[in-house]
Amino acid sequence: MRIAVLKEPRGDEPRVAATPETVKKFSGLGAQVAVESGAGARSSISDEAYKEAGAEISANREAALNGADIVLAVRRPEDLSGVPSGAAVVALMDPYGNEDELKKLADAGLSAFSLELIPRITRAQSMDVLSSQANLAGYRAVIEAAEAYGRAFPMMMTAAGTVPAARVFVMGAGVAGLQAIATAKRLGAVVTATDVRPAAKEQVESLGGKFVAVEDEEFKAAETAGGYAKEMSAEYRAKQADLVREHIAKQDIVITTALIPGRPAPKLVDAEMVKSMKDGSVVVDLAVERGGNVEGVEADTSVVKDNVTLIGIVNMAGQIAASASALLARNIYAFVEPMIDKETKSFKPNREDQIVAATLLTHGGALAHPQFGGAPAPAETPAEEKGA
Ligand code: NAI
Repeated sequence: MRIAVLKEPRGDEPRVAATPETVKKFSGLGAQVAVESGAGARSSISDEAYKEAGAEISANREAALNGADIVLAVRRPEDLSGVPSGAAVVALMDPYGNEDELKKLADAGLSAFSLELIPRITRAQSMDVLSSQANLAGYRAVIEAAEAYGRAFPMMMTAAGTVPAARVFVMGAGVAGLQAIATAKRLGAVVTATDVRPAAKEQVESLGGKFVAVEDEEFKAAETAGGYAKEMSAEYRAKQADLVREHIAKQDIVITTALIPGRPAPKLVDAEMVKSMKDGSVVVDLAVERGGNVEGVEADTSVVKDNVTLIGIVNMAGQIAASASALLARNIYAFVEPMIDKETKSFKPNREDQIVAATLLTHGGALAHPQFGGAPAPAETPAEEKGA
C-alpha cells in the first residue's frame, strides 16, 4: 500500500496533509509513504524530517503519485494527471457548487473522500477537520485584530492614566467564535458574543463572555440535529440587525464567524453599522470565503472604510500553518486508519460505514454521494450518536 503526500500547488495554501508524526504511524500500518519534495516547507517541516520518519522523498508530483493507492492533499487536486485510476484521494474537496469538478474525479476513476463532510458523531471527533482548523482560525483572527488595532486590548492603569479595555464582539459562537472569545478574554478584552443557536449562550457565558441575541421562539429551534445553524427567516434577521446595530456602535473589534453549511454566509453587518463604529476599530470576517458576514470586506486584503479596518483573510488557519498542519494531519490519519485492513495491509473502505458513506463523493467511475449527484441516500445519524 502506497500513500502519496502532495505539495499544495496554490500559493495561498501553506498547509500539508501529513506530518512526520503521521508518516510514522502510516508506516507502522505497513504503508510506504512518498512525500513530494518541499510539501512541508511552508509548515516548517523539512524533507529530512519526513525521511527520518520513514518517508521516501519524491523529487516531483509524478514520482510521488507513481503507484499510489491513497493520495493525501489539503485541497482537492485540480490537476489529476498522474493520479492512478482506482486510487483514493483524501482532501478538503469543497464539494458545494463544484459538481463539475467532482465529475472529473469520478471520470478519472478515483475514490474521492471529502474531509469537510465527516459527520459530527462521537466516533469521528478526532477526524473533525472543520473543528480543528476553525479553532486555530478563531485564535488567529483575534491576533490579526490586535495587530491592526492601534490601542491596547487589556485595561492598563499607568502613572499617565488608564487605558480602557478593548470591547470585542464575536458574531457566531461556533468552534471559531468560541476560540476567538477565549483568546480575546486572555488578552484582557471585554467580550460579548451572539449566535442563533440557543446552545451557544451557555458556552459563551462559560468563557466569560456576555451573550447578546434575539431569544424568541425561532431562536429556540434554530439548531439542526447535526449541531449546525439553520438559515433564519427575514423577520428574525431584521430583529437581529436592530439589536446588532445598537451594540456594534459601542465595539472596538468585531469578529464574525457565522456560517450555514452549504449556504452563502448570512449578512450580519452592513456598511452603515461599520460606519457607526469608532475610528480605529477593526472588523475581521472569517466567513469571507462563503461571501462574508460583513459588507465591504474583501478576500485576502485589508481595506479601511470610514476609519474602520476590514480584514478578510480566507485561509486564516493557514496563517499558523505549522499548528494547522499538525492538527489536520492527525485528523486525516484518524480518518484513514480505520479504512486500512490491518491483516492484508491494504485500503478497504467499508461503504456501509456511516463515516465512509457520508464522505465518499466519487467511486468506481461515478458520483457516489446523494447530495452531490450520486444515487443512494446514506442512513440518518441517530440522535444519540451526536457528539457534544
Ligand atoms: P459553523 O462554522 O457552521 O458556523 C459558525 C457559527 O455561526 C455557528 O455557531 C452558527 O450557529 C453561527 N451562525 C449561523 N448563522 C448565524 C446568524 N445569522 N447569526 C449569528 N450566528 C450565526 O459552525 P461550527 O463552528 O462548525 O459548529 C457549530 C456547532 O457544532 C458547535 O458550536 C458545536 O456545538 C457543534 N460541534 C459539534 C461537534 C461534534 O459533535 N463532534 C464538533 C464540532 C462542533
